[in-house]
Amino acid sequence: MPKVLLIDDELTMVQTVSELLRQEGHEVFPFTNGPAALEALTTHSPELVITDLYLDKTRAHGLQILEKARALNPPAVVIVITGFGSIETAVEAMKNGAFDYLEKPFKVEELKICVQRALSYNAAISETVFLRKQLKKKYHFSQIIGSSQNMQDVFKMIERVAGTDSTILVLGESGTGKELVARALHFNSPRQHAPFVPINCSALPENLLESELFGHRRGAFTGAINDKKGLFQEADGGTIFLDEVGSMSPMLQSRLLRVLQDREVRRVGDNTSFYVNVRVVAASNEPLEKKIKEGTFREDLYYRLNVIPICLPSLRERREDIPLLVAHFLQSKTASRSGLPFQVTRQVMEALCAHDWPGNVRELENAIERAVTLCEGQIVRMRDLPPRLVQKAAVSGSEEEPAEAAALPEMPEGALYPLQPGSGPGNQPAPSARPYEPFKSLKTFLRDQEVVHLNRALELSGGDKEKAALLLGVSLATLYRKLADDDREP
Ligand SMILES: Nc1ncnc2c1ncn2[C@@H]1O[C@H](COP(=O)(O)OP(=O)(O)OP(=O)(O)O)[C@@H](O)[C@H]1O
Ligand SMILES: [Mg+2]
Repeated sequence: MPKVLLIDDELTMVQTVSELLRQEGHEVFPFTNGPAALEALTTHSPELVITDLYLDKTRAHGLQILEKARALNPPAVVIVITGFGSIETAVEAMKNGAFDYLEKPFKVEELKICVQRALSYNAAISETVFLRKQLKKKYHFSQIIGSSQNMQDVFKMIERVAGTDSTILVLGESGTGKELVARALHFNSPRQHAPFVPINCSALPENLLESELFGHRRGAFTGAINDKKGLFQEADGGTIFLDEVGSMSPMLQSRLLRVLQDREVRRVGDNTSFYVNVRVVAASNEPLEKKIKEGTFREDLYYRLNVIPICLPSLRERREDIPLLVAHFLQSKTASRSGLPFQVTRQVMEALCAHDWPGNVRELENAIERAVTLCEGQIVRMRDLPPRLVQKAAVSGSEEEPAEAAALPEMPEGALYPLQPGSGPGNQPAPSARPYEPFKSLKTFLRDQEVVHLNRALELSGGDKEKAALLLGVSLATLYRKLADDDREP
């Protein structure tokens, strides 16, 4: 129910309008003086404020209410009520951020329409703010999972270059997360509010791709019935993502080279060009050097694109990240389904860690999606995995440690794999993984450090608590108390 703060020093006016708005289904907080209304702004966080500008015989309170309502988080929409003939006041209020004004005396219908428009505007703004936050969260670095050293190196590089305008070349096999990285670069850069425009260069024939990228003038070719903006122009101020850049034809490669050199775009059929402010992120799933040797990719373009390369490792090269990725995908499926968490058996995790994943993270994500759809209840078992994984596990025998797999903890057969953070081998982040954890309060950080140190002392003393207490320079009672504290939630 939308909350409306209504302020006017005429009591009858406040009573009539309150009644009307309540009938319309709004929650109304009526006030007849400025100071009380000002206080109520913070306590009630209304979506809409309807206020007379002249309160308590002065204009000061009206303007203060307007200012404070606009400064709320989220801001309220303000409708100002003005006396007959005081159009200057209305103009001043609009300049100060009021959404609309009503001139006294106003009709009931006028009030209703004005309130409805203001509330729809407020809802649209809130939705945009919400969607922006969601997008940012989605492409936050923390959504790119990986604690292996090679992924940590990737994170460091992304973090260093996201805020710059440098051209980036993202390399990696299919499904390794090239587009995810390109989006993270954009949504963590100052260009985040401008468009991110992805285009797959292998998906279109040469002439279509040319007019998609650069646009065309009307009549440039048969079928060009109107002028068309190109994607470089659409991405102005933002980022263009040229996926599978290696598949561009020689003609398009030379046109792209010119854009990268001069930042100027010329539409097909046009003889003038215009400046574009676009950051270029390109990606390829095949090594471009090979294409240069074969003579199908221009070397000069390669050097222009390869200003900063980011090479994504295949999943086989970072098997220790598989348990983390599995936990991440199980959690995202949980959130989008019943809300109950999914779990996997030890054999399932072993099979997932042993597989070669030619389709990399995308293939793993699809396997988890399939498994949670097929599984009975909340536990994913071997029968829920794609047959190719199950066959391989059967050949190697379920008792065997999977070849080259991440070292999994010793557990009885059929036991559930512990997916809680910190409980699986892949969940032990490398020291360099720390910057990507949520930032800890000082208290939590110190407590975590203490736990590590206590465990180290117990390890050194072979589990003998008296010796450990001596090592730590505390009494045995203190050590017991600290160990008991560690069993509790922070
Ligand atoms: N490190 C990662 N953490 C979490 N999810 C990931 C990771 N890498 C990839 N994914 C997910 O895997 C899927 C494939 O990723 P993406 O599309 O970025 O791969 P790609 O390298 O562009 O593949 P292709 O070359 O086939 O276009 C996406 O759903 C993405 O969210
Ligand atoms: Mg891709």
